[in-house]
Amino acid sequence: MPDALSLLRTRRSVKPVELAGPGLSAAEVETLLTIASRVPDHGKLVPWRFIVFDGDARLAAGAAIAEVFRAKYPDAKSEQIEFERLRLARAPLVIAVVSRAMPHVKIPEWEQVLSAGAAAMSLVFAAHALGYAANWITEWYAYDRAVLDSLGLAPHEKIAGFIHIGRHASRAEDRPRPALSEIVTRYGR
Ligand SMILES: Cc1cc2nc3c(=O)[nH]c(=O)nc-3n(C[C@H](O)[C@H](O)[C@H](O)COP(=O)(O)O)c2cc1C
Repeated sequence: MPDALSLLRTRRSVKPVELAGPGLSAAEVETLLTIASRVPDHGKLVPWRFIVFDGDARLAAGAAIAEVFRAKYPDAKSEQIEFERLRLARAPLVIAVVSRAMPHVKIPEWEQVLSAGAAAMSLVFAAHALGYAANWITEWYAYDRAVLDSLGLAPHEKIAGFIHIGRHASRAEDRPRPALSEIVTRYGR
């Protein structure tokens, strides 16, 4: 297990298709969810929730995604529909982070949305800390109302991300990161 600082410094996303099994134990999934739900939350509103997709449930959800895709694109080829059916089965575990942000008398919705983003990032870091790799993605189905209905999201709920989690044998090559000089200013200097 890498120490916290080196994990934070070196974390890198891994493509969903490169996230292999065997999947996580029930105890590991509970650890991930416990860590993901320990994020800053102005007003203690708990403006997020999680949906776990593992085993055959990934394919059941994928069938719903494929059905919506077929209805949208009646001329789609069978390979394309099959690709959609397997969307959530690329990694052994997918956890959807659902934003439940709503208008509130005191707490801006923006802050509630940020809290869901923090939950998603904590989930990613927790997966890496457990020795797995992860990828925070949304893709088209995160924004499709018919898919959201089939996944049980209420009208005000949104997908903050589908966090794909699995094993990755090699270290993923890094990508360029912004230079601090481009993104940091010292106020007053
Ligand atoms: C809200 C959100 C949604 C994202 N959705 C996608 C996506 O649908 N497809 C994708 O390739 N990357 C997506 N990304 C980017 C990846 O999570 C990741 O940051 C990117 O692959 C770069 O890798 P890195 O995490 O190692 O910097 C998304 C990131 C965020 C924050």
